[in-house]
Amino acid sequence: MYIDYNENLTEVIKDYRKAVDKCLDQLLPPENTMPNKLHEAMRYSVFAGGKRIRPVITMLCCKLFSGNLEDALPVAAAIEMIHTYSLIHDDLPAMDNDDFRRGKPTSHKVYGEAVAILAGDALLTKAFEVLAKVPKTTSIKPDVANLIIETVSGAAGNLAMIGGQVMDIMSEAAAGSEKNISELVLFEIHKRKTAALIAASAKAGAFVAKAGIKDVNAIEDFATALGLLFQMSDDLLDYTSTREQIGKTPGKDGAGNKLTFLSLFGPEIARQKIAEFKQKTLLLLEPFGEKANLLRGLTEYVAGRTN
Ligand code: IPE
Ligand code: IPE
Ligand code: MG
Ligand code: MG
Ligand code: MG
Repeated sequence: MYIDYNENLTEVIKDYRKAVDKCLDQLLPPENTMPNKLHEAMRYSVFAGGKRIRPVITMLCCKLFSGNLEDALPVAAAIEMIHTYSLIHDDLPAMDNDDFRRGKPTSHKVYGEAVAILAGDALLTKAFEVLAKVPKTTSIKPDVANLIIETVSGAAGNLAMIGGQVMDIMSEAAAGSEKNISELVLFEIHKRKTAALIAASAKAGAFVAKAGIKDVNAIEDFATALGLLFQMSDDLLDYTSTREQIGKTPGKDGAGNKLTFLSLFGPEIARQKIAEFKQKTLLLLEPFGEKANLLRGLTEYVAGRTN
């Protein structure tokens, strides 16, 4: 029915990434700001070469509801700051202990653990400063800004991303339990640690565009599914890819004996389930008709991604 799935998705993503990167560059203090090490470290991780999926989702959802894309930019950039902080902390020796991220040595490898922790803290804090200021820097009204802050802080907080990260770290204990229990636990982990921020990215874009409650709920359902799909592929890539492809150390989940999509189902069934879940995710775009073709293309990309 929707013939040109990909439309000009590659071009659109390229444009959005460029605009988000420019905005991030303007929002982050220059490297020579005292204390230099901190600001260097903040910029090092942000500009190490991420895919910018979350800010792209914010922009695409703002576009879907015909919002002002200029207004969405600082919101998208703030979400990327939060995501980057989560990666810096995720890679620390006390967590996943990875030496590579985004194709480069991790923050703690370059700057030491103390500065890496603090650079993460600073990015998280900066993100909310940026969001609090959007009524001054854009045409977004204070009540809409409040909604965005409430949504994004909820998604990054104890019941969502942080809670999911805690459950992920504790998942070794669940790995030996019954498969159906493990599957439920895994779903909760994926939903919290990854899908929540992806759903918030979509909702924030919809809020900027002043979408109605029905549309906001529908886009949240879609983006939650997309976020789950994103983490399923992440788990599969940990098993099937090289460091050159994913820019981080593969095989980390297995080595850490984590409960993942892969440890539970193995590569073949995992691939099958990803294909099935992609179809379910695409169905959630039906209410938006052809206007959602770019999001359809993004869903295809997330399901088949290689990096
Ligand atoms: C990695 O996220 C962490 C997960 C939630 C799976 P991304 O795969 O989006 O990482 P970057 O931003 O492209 O580096
Ligand atoms: C990380 O999940 C999720 C967050 C950073 C919130 P993973 O630990 O699977 O991410 P990677 O594989 O290190 O990117
Ligand atoms: Mg992790
Ligand atoms: Mg990790
Ligand atoms: Mg992973």
